[in-house]
Amino acid sequence: MKFTLAANDVQSSARAGVLHTAHGDIETPIFMPVGTAGSVKAVHQRELENDIHAQIILGNTYHLYLRPGTELLERAGGLHKFNGWQKPILTDSGGYQVYSLGHNRKITEEGVIFKSHIDGSKHTFTPERVMDIERSIGADIIMAFDECTPYPCDYSYAKESMHMTHRWLKRCVERVNTTEPLYGYEQALFPIIQGSVYKDLREQSAEFIASQNQWGNAIGGLSVGEPHEDMYAMTSLVCGILPKDKPRYLMGVGTPENILECIALGIDMFDCVMPTRNARNGMLFTTQGIINIRNEKWKDDLSSIDEELGGYVSTFHSKAYLRHLIINKEILGAQIASIHNLTFYLWLVKEARKQILTGTFAAWKDVMVKKVSSRL
Ligand code: GUN
Repeated sequence: MKFTLAANDVQSSARAGVLHTAHGDIETPIFMPVGTAGSVKAVHQRELENDIHAQIILGNTYHLYLRPGTELLERAGGLHKFNGWQKPILTDSGGYQVYSLGHNRKITEEGVIFKSHIDGSKHTFTPERVMDIERSIGADIIMAFDECTPYPCDYSYAKESMHMTHRWLKRCVERVNTTEPLYGYEQALFPIIQGSVYKDLREQSAEFIASQNQWGNAIGGLSVGEPHEDMYAMTSLVCGILPKDKPRYLMGVGTPENILECIALGIDMFDCVMPTRNARNGMLFTTQGIINIRNEKWKDDLSSIDEELGGYVSTFHSKAYLRHLIINKEILGAQIASIHNLTFYLWLVKEARKQILTGTFAAWKDVMVKKVSSRL
């Protein structure tokens, strides 16, 4: 894997780059649609490629391990072969999913013992085991096993947890360095910074993570309920410490506004369930602002979902039709809304990249933030 920077914005810390992987190039900044169980919910791979122009998607170690399981994935030749998505894939390590399990898990130095959300069966994730599972899945980018701390989180817990994430990282690095990829192409390990909303912990974590000299670096433990100001402050702080020549991934973020603000702080990669999850509930992100399509006001509106965005579903289908589908719980409603939202997210980062390359990002961002966060 190789990361090349194409431009640095002079008025902000935004960057435009290209991440080269065995399954193709990714132009950054990029948004990665979430495909938890090997599918981006309600969206076909052909739509992801041809309509949405996704360049990389996410998979989840926790879900893929429980179902369909590593044995079948290995027999298929990895997730790319299993789901037919031939572009890059990134797998999250399960650190976040385990955090989401609440009481159904026990965290120890060795790893995490948890109960499956599917059938209540007991499983253990250690850093070594997670690296092995990520090898079986075969993603191009594999995330280290970490503990995502909740918010709020007291200082002593955040500190202990961060140190444990660091120790787990060393074990992840050791395992990756002493095993081979199963499918003949390279898998790049990304470590994850933790430290909750505490400046000194975030600094310490960023320095430790950077010192591991891996392919890229990620920021975790944010967008878990803390005020946006804290998220921006922590992101800005760690971007000042992380090496400039490696991609930076802000995990689980966010709204269009969050994405634009964090691109300005120096983030290159984002993922979030918001465009797909909210689409299924009728929340649309458009070039003009946010729409709740269930609202009565769209009932007779035969105008395009988003005229300016372009793309097939956004131009061809009307707001009134999509509202009708969503209100009637038609499966097609979830499909159209998901394709639309993802098309918008991918358009947003592509526009941001263009603006960085032409040196007009900062002013554009300020106008765009207002526009995309307004409620229609
Ligand atoms: N997704 C969002 N936040 C996190 C995090 O802190 N850790 C992991 N592994 N995944 C995440």
